[in-house]
Amino acid sequence: MQPIDQQRKDDHLIHALKQHAVSPNTANTSSTSTSPVSSFDNVRFVHHAIQTDGIAQSEISLSTQWAGTEHPVPLYINGMTGGSPAAKRYNQQLAEIARETGLPMASGSMSITLKNPTDDEIRESFTVIRSTHRNGFVLANLGAGKTLEDAKKVVDWLEADALQIHLNRPQEVIMPEGDRDFSKWSDHIQNIIENVGVPVVVKEVGFGMSRESIAHLIQLGAQTIDISGRGGTNFAQIENLRRDHLDFTLLENWGQTTAESLLESLPYQDQTEILASGGVRHYYDAVRAFALGTRAVGLSGHLLHLVDQGGVTAGVEFVQSTLEAIRHCCLLLNARCVTDLAHCPIVLTGELKDWATARGID
Ligand code: FNR
Repeated sequence: MQPIDQQRKDDHLIHALKQHAVSPNTANTSSTSTSPVSSFDNVRFVHHAIQTDGIAQSEISLSTQWAGTEHPVPLYINGMTGGSPAAKRYNQQLAEIARETGLPMASGSMSITLKNPTDDEIRESFTVIRSTHRNGFVLANLGAGKTLEDAKKVVDWLEADALQIHLNRPQEVIMPEGDRDFSKWSDHIQNIIENVGVPVVVKEVGFGMSRESIAHLIQLGAQTIDISGRGGTNFAQIENLRRDHLDFTLLENWGQTTAESLLESLPYQDQTEILASGGVRHYYDAVRAFALGTRAVGLSGHLLHLVDQGGVTAGVEFVQSTLEAIRHCCLLLNARCVTDLAHCPIVLTGELKDWATARGID
């Protein structure tokens, strides 16, 4: 039997892979369906047949700036795994994809290394990211319950360029062995942002963010926020599958979708850098996320599924074709860079429009 922390890492991989194998998000890429499978499908662009200042493809740059760095491409591999032999294999493959495509990459939560500081195998399941993606932009990852001292250790171990702090209250509540005390999160986050010495990205894990949370994080000093919304990997469902009593299936639709969370972030996009992840299926979702103001788009469960099925080659092909298609969409939408896409007129439909109305978002 594996220790519970390692078993949890493997459970997350197994259940997330099952979700993405059967998910309509990967099977149905139609954006014309009347009952959308993703709230990204509730975002439509206004087409212009000709524009006053038309551009050429050669003028388009995909570079984007966040966490104190100019990144050549506007995608990143989001925090997923580490802590077990299987996790190490996935981290190695994901880091190879990051290296081949120039993507920043985050590790999964490194709290397991803090609990097992002398276990070299556990630590190497994370540091394989740095040894593989030697010159890349690498982010360490910890939960908001951890201290400044913890944060400094994991940044140091991974030689990380930045740190992700994840917020995952629904997951902790549903997780049988989850945290039951969130009272120190704000203090920890503020202290870490002020003193850890590398840029910090505060992120959700697929339940999205409200404008109230975003405003609070800005008060704590957050300069980069990944609103990671609902629509892809579903940790409420994953933790339910790991329980043997007290069923929380009614909470499996908890949270805001990625598109809803981006709408929530609109009033704050000039005060903090917004990143988006959660249920991004293809280039068109990414383009719609840029239209809603994100600076970069995070890939997680869907990419993990591709790697599981087709290895590094499948992952590299997906990233490269996604980048190429984003470039084509920029041309179609007359945008010289992805942040220009935020100025394109869009029309919201369906449940996303209802959300905007209910929350008073213009
Ligand atoms: C995750 N995610 C995650 N996030 C985090 O901050 N720390 C972590 O340790 C993990 N672990 C993890 C494991 C697995 C197997 C997956 C698929 C995901 C959450 C991830 O970064 C992202 O926020 C969500 O998965 C939403 O994006 P997708 O998967 O819908 O694209």
